[in-house]
Amino acid sequence: MESFKIKIVEPIRILAKKERLRILKKAGYNLFRVPADKVTIDFLTDSGTGALSQDQLAMMMKGDESYAGAKSWQRFEKAAQEFTGKKEIIPVHQGRAAEKIITETLVKSRGCYAVANTFFDTTRANFEHAGAVCVDFPASDNIASREKFKGNLNVRAADYFLKKNGAKTAALVMTATNNANGGQPVSLVNISAAAALARRYKIPFIIDACRVAENGYFIKRDEKSASAMTISAIVRKSLKNADIVFMSAKKDGLANMGGFIATDNKKFAEMFKNLGILYEGYSTYGGMSGREMETVAQGLKEVLEENYLRHRVGQVAELHKTLSKIGFKLINPPGGHAVYLDASTALPHVKKENLPGQALAISFYLEGGVRGVEIGTLMFGKSARRELVRLALPRRAYTKSHLDYVAEVGKAVWKKRKTLRGFKIVKAPAELRHFSATFRPVS
Ligand code: F0G
Repeated sequence: MESFKIKIVEPIRILAKKERLRILKKAGYNLFRVPADKVTIDFLTDSGTGALSQDQLAMMMKGDESYAGAKSWQRFEKAAQEFTGKKEIIPVHQGRAAEKIITETLVKSRGCYAVANTFFDTTRANFEHAGAVCVDFPASDNIASREKFKGNLNVRAADYFLKKNGAKTAALVMTATNNANGGQPVSLVNISAAAALARRYKIPFIIDACRVAENGYFIKRDEKSASAMTISAIVRKSLKNADIVFMSAKKDGLANMGGFIATDNKKFAEMFKNLGILYEGYSTYGGMSGREMETVAQGLKEVLEENYLRHRVGQVAELHKTLSKIGFKLINPPGGHAVYLDASTALPHVKKENLPGQALAISFYLEGGVRGVEIGTLMFGKSARRELVRLALPRRAYTKSHLDYVAEVGKAVWKKRKTLRGFKIVKAPAELRHFSATFRPVS
């Protein structure tokens, strides 16, 4: 059951299907262009979309908006230090701002490499923008298999690559959990093997920790050596080997905005602070208001509660189960923050170039106002390896009956699947086209 009760409510609207069709047409069949008040269940992202707790709201009232050394900064810094076990904290307004600062510092020559279990798109884009070539070594690419810790780095393949290219590699990144690979967790054993690999080749080892508490829950549940540890101890142990940790607090910070970089390396810290001041703001607020720093400081504590995490991961598993029962193929096993539907098996008649993921995502909206996101050819172009639709669950925002509603919508979509049509792009920008492109249904 939910690990919370509800104190503040926000009404949600259920529109008539006719109305949703009108809105879709107006939005050029792009769900990013649909106004949020026309969405019934919003599973577009789990980033910054969660509910705040009573303690977070109370602490917002204590938000100290002093420019330098605010009390809110002191609480933020201490909470981030306790969460990560690292001494130096550099605040930023969100994850990609940390990525910009880190990549600008580490990528020294055009054409060098950066290696990861799988880069999230903004991490990849920042490394590439700084001049690096990004290479993924996921441990598993198989949608169906149910093995644990499918987010792991393929250490052997990465080692083989680094033997040849180690001297030209700027960083080794572990994304925990692995969002671009199904929200699958990484194990403690794999994290320390990755860290050892990075040390061997003298490469900075970075952990993208935006969902590291969810990852910690999987470690406690499925990795024997950690079953008696607290989530807090598991998170610190996970991060201990990293030279650099960065975190978008919009995920496991349980906040609507915020983030930080953490390190014990004084040289890195100084360089990050200087760039932080240039891009984000002074090093005791980094683009956040005092109020926002308070929500993160408090959120970093609440996210480590096991009851909360059990419910959180349980919700994803529940939705995974009901959609599988209906007939959908999903990335197995259920991950930490989202379910990923395989559109190519649901709509085998829709060709890759007609965007099966987009067709499926649009159908979820049309049938019941459920908004997800295509992760496939529309998002990645020709390099897409799969045609997926991600339904990401905001934290503490939806209840079990909302999930039941989504399952009903899933049933309606499944029934209609043979009649669903693909899409053609009408207009799209050269980069990050999924945000603003417009489409028309294939006749
Ligand atoms: N790293 C990972 C693994 C992420 O999932 C995200 C954001 C970021 C970094 C960047 O953080 O948004 O604060 O700048 N993921 C969101 C998503 C956008 O929907 O998965 P940000």
